[in-house]
Amino acid sequence: MSAQKIICVVGARPNFMKMAPILEAMAARPAQFAPLLVHTGQHYDERMSKTFFEELGLPRPDMDLGVGSGSHAQQTAKVMMAFEEVCLHHRPDRVLVVGDVNSTLAATLVATKMDIPVAHVEAGLRSRDMSMPEELNRLCTDAICDLLFTTDALADENLRAEGVAEERIKLVGNVMIDTLLKHRQLASQRRVLADLGIAAGEYAVLTLHRPATVDDPAVLEPLLRKLHVLAADLPIVFPIHPRTRARIDGFGLGDLLTGDGPVSGLYVTEPQGYLDFLCLTMNARLVLTDSGGLQEETTVLGVPCLTLRDNTERPITCSQGTNVLVGRDPELVATEFQRALHKGGGQTKVPPLWDGQAAPRIVEVLAG
Ligand code: UD1
Repeated sequence: MSAQKIICVVGARPNFMKMAPILEAMAARPAQFAPLLVHTGQHYDERMSKTFFEELGLPRPDMDLGVGSGSHAQQTAKVMMAFEEVCLHHRPDRVLVVGDVNSTLAATLVATKMDIPVAHVEAGLRSRDMSMPEELNRLCTDAICDLLFTTDALADENLRAEGVAEERIKLVGNVMIDTLLKHRQLASQRRVLADLGIAAGEYAVLTLHRPATVDDPAVLEPLLRKLHVLAADLPIVFPIHPRTRARIDGFGLGDLLTGDGPVSGLYVTEPQGYLDFLCLTMNARLVLTDSGGLQEETTVLGVPCLTLRDNTERPITCSQGTNVLVGRDPELVATEFQRALHKGGGQTKVPPLWDGQAAPRIVEVLAG
């Protein structure tokens, strides 16, 4: 039998660390797999994309669709139009998508309509919050993919409850953790703490980018003001997502990002590369975030995580890991921040199969 031609699709920053170990596992079995890597170009800045390819050892994309930014409809439609051409030209045996970004859904719709089977890695996560674009992407992608690779048993239950046939669900573990465990040692040698002038265990890391957190000034402004106050107790490192910077500038709140780190306690930086960011999180006293993946990474690292959301599609990080949902109310955030500070290290149990071997398990299933 000839090698399977599998088109692997990435688009945005959180896709890159999920795809890297899968491509590596496929590369180890060249007789069985002939992967092609497509980058939709949803994220395109050097710091949001190229750096990750270099640090994670991702191969150069075979095709870059260059879709860039736009409204949800524009972005999804642009990926669909360009990806249809790719599928018509290459006629793959299968498409493989990861995560829950617009590129994930767009590629899945195109391939499924062309009768090309699609495998979804990180299937079955549900926040039950239909105002999140990612929740719509997850639901629609899972409904039409033929193979659903899951990270934990709760995701399997979600899929079963939606009527997904048992043979489509494959519990394989967490590919993002494959990448974390592989790079942990390398990350620990980075100089980012020294460059910022901060000490291990004596700062918090903050990330914000979700529309629900950053698109409404009535939510964002009081939160940022409170974070400034908290930074006086524990310095906060804030690598800022381009979307967040654009909103803060657009709302005329730019002065909330200025100030000298050693004096104000708030260290605003450009988006970090994978290794520097991992170095920052693994050495942090605590993490504040509205990200999805960071909830999982802090659970494995044993770093307390305060998630500035009302819900999570990753509840296992709360039941077994270090994650606490604190919402966006500045007073509640402050209370939990102080509580976490005084409680010390996070209690954590690493979920089953988050062991660095998820990608080889995926490839084993695909090999058939
Ligand atoms: C996307 C994903 C989100 C994921 C996040 C990680 C969707 C619906 N959202 O959100 O699930 O958690 O990526 O970052 O797919 N921008 C740049 N440079 C870039 C990319 C974006 O400046 O390289 C700016 C643009 O102004 C753009 C905005 O950021 O309009 C938002 O980018 P977009 O890809 O639409 O969504 P994210 O907020 O990054």
